[in-house]
Amino acid sequence: MDISTCCHCQGADEFFSDRRARKELKKYRRKGPDKSTRLLLEGIVSRGVEGASVLDIGGGVGVIQHELAARGAAEIYSADASQAYLATSRAEAEERGYVEQARYLLGDFVDIAPDVEEVDIVTLDRVVCCYPDMPTLVEASASKARRVYGLVFPRDRWPVRAVIAGINLVNTLRRSSFRVFVRPPEEIDRTVRAAGFEPRFSARTFVWHVAVYAR
Ligand SMILES: C[S@@+](CC[C@H](N)C(=O)[O-])C[C@H]1O[C@@H](n2cnc3c(N)ncnc32)[C@H](O)[C@@H]1O
Repeated sequence: MDISTCCHCQGADEFFSDRRARKELKKYRRKGPDKSTRLLLEGIVSRGVEGASVLDIGGGVGVIQHELAARGAAEIYSADASQAYLATSRAEAEERGYVEQARYLLGDFVDIAPDVEEVDIVTLDRVVCCYPDMPTLVEASASKARRVYGLVFPRDRWPVRAVIAGINLVNTLRRSSFRVFVRPPEEIDRTVRAAGFEPRFSARTFVWHVAVYAR
């Protein structure tokens, strides 16, 4: 998949670099999933994972994929706009012995969605905030979930907005096209419900909102 023509993907590919991937994998191996990811996993696992097919969009170094494979998911699809993250996630799956059950898809999910098959569970852990068009990404991804849809996104509160404004300023100064976005949670909720889902699990940390939906 050619990502060189998409400004958002070029930005994501540069920002989510090989160096960043190595650092994140090291942290995950040492400490396990972050708190918000643990909460997302809790909500997903409570809906049943054994034998399920999973599509993790923007999975980074593959934390959700590794954890759900270990809990009995049968098929894992990982779609990411960063080549470095996809390669790191795949290498770790190989290390953990489940790479044969996994497929790796490179590109902006909105572009590749027409070629992606439906699965039981779709996850987007801290991804909606990287994308300029939330409704299109949520609609494209929710349409692939037969049963469960889970996502983590930033809370709409001033300390979070202030940090994100700082990140965007630094990226502007570095001439990086990568930006972070905060969306009102009601807007995200409305979009997921409009795709045929009902909320089943919700949790919050200081920065993140965790939401799991089922059909
Ligand atoms: C902030 S990282 C989150 C990684 C991981 N899910 C986590 O929570 O640690 C965002 C990830 O989403 C990917 N991404 C952003 N927009 C995307 C899109 N439209 N399609 C596919 N991947 C995307 C980035 O390449 C990156 O791997």
